[in-house]
Amino acid sequence: MTQDQTIQALSEETRTFAPPAEFTANANVTAEAYDRAAADRLGFWDDAAQRITWAEPYTEVLDWSDAPHSKWFVGGKLNAAYNCVDRHVENGLGDRVAYYFEGEGGDTRTITYKDLQDEVSRAANALLELGVKTGDRVAIYMPMIPETVFAMLACARIGAPHTVIFGGFSARAIADRVQDCGVEVVITADGGYRRGKPSPLKAVVDEAMESCPDVRTVLVVKRTGQDVDWTEGRDVWWSDVVDRQSEQHTPEAFDAEHPLYVMYSSGTTGKPKGILHTTGGYLVGTSYTHWAVFDIKPESDVYWTAADIGWVTGHSYIVYGPLANATTSIMYEGTPDTPHQGRWWEIIEKYKATILYCAPTAIRTFMKWGRQIPAKYDLSSLRLLGSVGEPINPEAWIWYRAHIGGDTTPVVDTWWQTENGQILISPLPGVTATKPGAAMRALPGIVADVYNDQGEPVGNGEGGYLVIKEPWPGMLRTLWGDDERFQHTYWDKYPGVYFAGDGAKRDQDGDIWVIGRVDDVMNVSGHRLSTTEIESALVSHDAVAEAAVVGAANETTGQSIEAFVILRESAKGGGQDIVDELRKHVRTEIGAIASPRSIMLVDELPKTRSGKIMRRLLRDIAENREPGDSTTLADSSVVARIQQEVSGA
Ligand code: WTA
Repeated sequence: MTQDQTIQALSEETRTFAPPAEFTANANVTAEAYDRAAADRLGFWDDAAQRITWAEPYTEVLDWSDAPHSKWFVGGKLNAAYNCVDRHVENGLGDRVAYYFEGEGGDTRTITYKDLQDEVSRAANALLELGVKTGDRVAIYMPMIPETVFAMLACARIGAPHTVIFGGFSARAIADRVQDCGVEVVITADGGYRRGKPSPLKAVVDEAMESCPDVRTVLVVKRTGQDVDWTEGRDVWWSDVVDRQSEQHTPEAFDAEHPLYVMYSSGTTGKPKGILHTTGGYLVGTSYTHWAVFDIKPESDVYWTAADIGWVTGHSYIVYGPLANATTSIMYEGTPDTPHQGRWWEIIEKYKATILYCAPTAIRTFMKWGRQIPAKYDLSSLRLLGSVGEPINPEAWIWYRAHIGGDTTPVVDTWWQTENGQILISPLPGVTATKPGAAMRALPGIVADVYNDQGEPVGNGEGGYLVIKEPWPGMLRTLWGDDERFQHTYWDKYPGVYFAGDGAKRDQDGDIWVIGRVDDVMNVSGHRLSTTEIESALVSHDAVAEAAVVGAANETTGQSIEAFVILRESAKGGGQDIVDELRKHVRTEIGAIASPRSIMLVDELPKTRSGKIMRRLLRDIAENREPGDSTTLADSSVVARIQQEVSGA
């Protein structure tokens, strides 16, 4: 579907689904929460902050005097790892399962809160022995295994902000992030299992380290047992240094605004943004929203966020939110079709999962595989389903509810971003009568709106730009090393108001439907990628003179990456070889997730008189549609020629 068709489908969607009466009767949050927050927003967040154990109380909920820089829970001190682990053990929950880990190959581990406390404490002691100090940044490039959580919490425990790099990124992407963040210690694994095979991680880190002379230690978890190269003096096995440590470690309390982590995310330029989250507000925001949106009952729920820890969804809803709430979670290492297409449903049946949270791309893939596959499993334990990461089309929403949720479970479509840290717009499952494809309205304590170009709120039935009008606890504090870009990207378009970069619509009832990015950011399978970043990667190849990348609508992945490339004279005539070579080059520069679906070799690109590439027209071509208005082009016959070249190829 094109964006226009999506908007059309969304506009025609009129079904609503009220929460089941029994769900409402037992829900954590009632409609009253909206009134409470509307009457006293900071009082509301003050209450929510009581979910957290503060080593020293804060004196003020919010300091917004230096806007857009916020300070939440001013003067408060806390330790994030203590809040996620130790206090639960102190409260007698040491035997509760924190994670049911399911390896791709079928190996399993059950990790209780007491196990977690021991492992995190050992890892924290090891990091201290390796010379990591409070404030030092530690990079983590890992598969989806429990040690990834141990490593993150060990960092948090000693106040060393982590920067987790998604395991699909290339050596070049690692090096960029490690350099930008000034990292000296990297934690990785020999490899992880993907699609039934060990896939290397340490080897990729080794390559990245060639351009990272400041990294003095690479700590390596043994996961697959595959051969690895070893750099003496730099590389250390996790088992050698962590296992022999004491499981006693006293967590230190840090300021509420102490940096917790940096997560790199794609923006509209070639350079990823280092989004900075701090400790107190982030924990309050993730803990409250996890409890409210997923209606978490920690004593009975088995919760599963089927995402990667390398993205913000994993940070907030596999690690910090669920653990702060003493939840039992499932963690799965591999892909949904290994060794068979029913793997997720087998896992749900096995652990009697009660809540599933995943991306629409996964749901659309399952639709394609057929409803007979989930139908083979007992999914009756599920009581709530969530969606995140991209707009969910009504058809996928309905399918999810019907074939996974047994036609009874509420579905919450949660809108948020890496920058937000926490869910901002979503139904509340015991309150909201949901509409398929709508994130509905801002959560209690959040003030969202849809603005037109002039910065005025649009009326019902109108579309515009999604904005957040008041600060919230989990918000980013700045961009690592680039405060100017922070201010410019989010706060300049509408002064004092957070500009999300998403288009949205208010329906006749005033409910919000998020439509997708309005900038050069693409959303491919729920992964955020920048068109400019991929263009820069292409242009860095000797054979390329110019490149333009667009995201075209794709039925399964939401968008697909389509590249238009002009070769240098010397490289012309290379045919399919050069296309393969360029695809490989993008993998090396960024990672396999950024590899274009198609690379079209063309002789020219549609440009305005001022030289700006008109991506909109390229999108029309890639989506096989009659190109729109091309009157502002310097040469309006270009589009027809490109169409010819593309169809001839
Ligand atoms: C998109 C992922 C529609 C949106 C948590 C946003 C969504 C970007 C939704 C952030 C949703 C996320 N409906 N679109 N429920 N959730 N998005 O930083 O375009 O990886 O700006 O954070 O994903 O992606 P990010």
